[in-house]
Amino acid sequence: MKEIINIKLKTQRVDFSRCKTDLLAVGQFYDTKELDKLNAELNRKLGGAIGRVIKLGDFKGKDGTSAVVYGNESIGAKRVLLVGLGERKKATLDTVRKAAANAAKKSVEMRVKTVSLALHRAFEGRFDLRAMGQAMAEGTYFGSYRYDEFVTKDEDGRLNSLSAEVIDSDSAKTTKLNKGLSRGIIIGRAQSYARTLANRPGNIINPPELAAEAKRVAKTTAGLTCTVFDEKQMAARGMGGVLAVGSGSQSPPRFIVLKYSPLGKAASGRPTIALVGKAITFDSGGLSIKHADKMDEMKLDKTGGITVLGTMKAVAELRLALNVFGIIPSAENLPSGTSYRPGDIITTFSGKTVEVVNTDAEGRMILCDGLAYAVKQNCDIIIDIATLTGACRVALGKYMAGLMGNDERLMKQLQTAAKESGEKVWPMPSGDEYAEEMKSKIADLKNTGSKWGGACTAAAFLRQFVGNAKWVHLDIAGTEMFDKATEYTTEGSSGFGVRLLTRYLMNITK
Ligand code: BES
Ligand code: MN
Ligand code: ZN
Repeated sequence: MKEIINIKLKTQRVDFSRCKTDLLAVGQFYDTKELDKLNAELNRKLGGAIGRVIKLGDFKGKDGTSAVVYGNESIGAKRVLLVGLGERKKATLDTVRKAAANAAKKSVEMRVKTVSLALHRAFEGRFDLRAMGQAMAEGTYFGSYRYDEFVTKDEDGRLNSLSAEVIDSDSAKTTKLNKGLSRGIIIGRAQSYARTLANRPGNIINPPELAAEAKRVAKTTAGLTCTVFDEKQMAARGMGGVLAVGSGSQSPPRFIVLKYSPLGKAASGRPTIALVGKAITFDSGGLSIKHADKMDEMKLDKTGGITVLGTMKAVAELRLALNVFGIIPSAENLPSGTSYRPGDIITTFSGKTVEVVNTDAEGRMILCDGLAYAVKQNCDIIIDIATLTGACRVALGKYMAGLMGNDERLMKQLQTAAKESGEKVWPMPSGDEYAEEMKSKIADLKNTGSKWGGACTAAAFLRQFVGNAKWVHLDIAGTEMFDKATEYTTEGSSGFGVRLLTRYLMNITK
């Protein structure tokens, strides 16, 4: 894949004010009366320029803001970027990540060649240096990301590469920062990769193309293998859910199975995990067709599956001591003479029959086959991730993903990983009341419930396919994209879930 912007990221031991760089990024809290040691030293060398910006009120250190101060002969940097960190007491690791993202985004906008990050300084003693190194790396990738592979002319000239470094004058500190940095680079790259795949439209990525991409990743990543079932192989196995949804498209469906096994590392005693992701490469709704308004956003309906692919890449590169399956059922949901219809009764891979009430509730139709496949592989823990319901977006907005599940401890572990990764989740119910609504008179269950609580009924549908496994479901309809650019990132795919799932898997191998 064409690398969107080639990021070179490392640590460097260098004195802050002597560091030769196009842009030196430093943090500043909102509620501090005085500049901290580093900023005070820079301010002195710059003849009070930082103090003047603050005194004029042009920059107050508010979260998501920044200001540029130009260098002079007393410092090595051509520019200093003051990055607002918000209120000191509210700061989390995500503050560090967002500050780096902010600095990286400004670097790309200003088209600098080198950026030096001294953002961890403001948090010293508060967060572990390794964790901050990781957060800064993740943030650097996140903030510098843009999707322009089909833009043939860029009037201002395109920035092709950026050299970023995390700097500190103490080599003991750069060593610690560097440990986190190397993990963060893997995760950040995997997330950017996922964002690009998700941003690609339906005419570029269809299920066979996604399957080919998964095979390419497996081929070039140690420890990862990939098996793909085409429509004939799915038919032979009875994967009726995926086949039904894919039947309306000229592009046939695919069932993608990635497997990661650690090379030479014992994963014994650890649970086998399945990550199951919905990959509808375009969701028109099928015969229960959607309104034209914003239908284009449904190219992002493959995000869950792509998150799984990106996470598998990261897990393999991190060489985690864990066996992980990445299961990605993929189809395109279109109306045509061969489409599945409302009223159809489908026999799914589990053997359960489903009465189709609405062909737009297609995510659960493909996921149920993915979940049943995970059960068949004897996975102990199943995590599915999907842009499953508009109802989840209505309930939680665009800031957190819905978290449902059948195991309290597993749900808590995902909540912890969410805090650490900055990809937020909120618990929602999916119990028997919701499942009750999907009882059918002519099949084992229907594919929709009542008008209310759509995110919960969707999860209650899935719950019926996980057997005795511990299971959680992440509904990312809402968090999968940004409508518009922010200080930290551009619009389009957010890559939500790559950091969250990787963090969860890292935590259980600790
Ligand atoms: N992919 C959609 C869910 C979605 C909606 C994601 C908006 C992102 C933004 C899903 O396949 C869908 O159409 N769900 C239906 C379910 C309904 C028919 C029970 C929905 O949410 O309307
Ligand atoms: Mn749909
Ligand atoms: Zn969908």
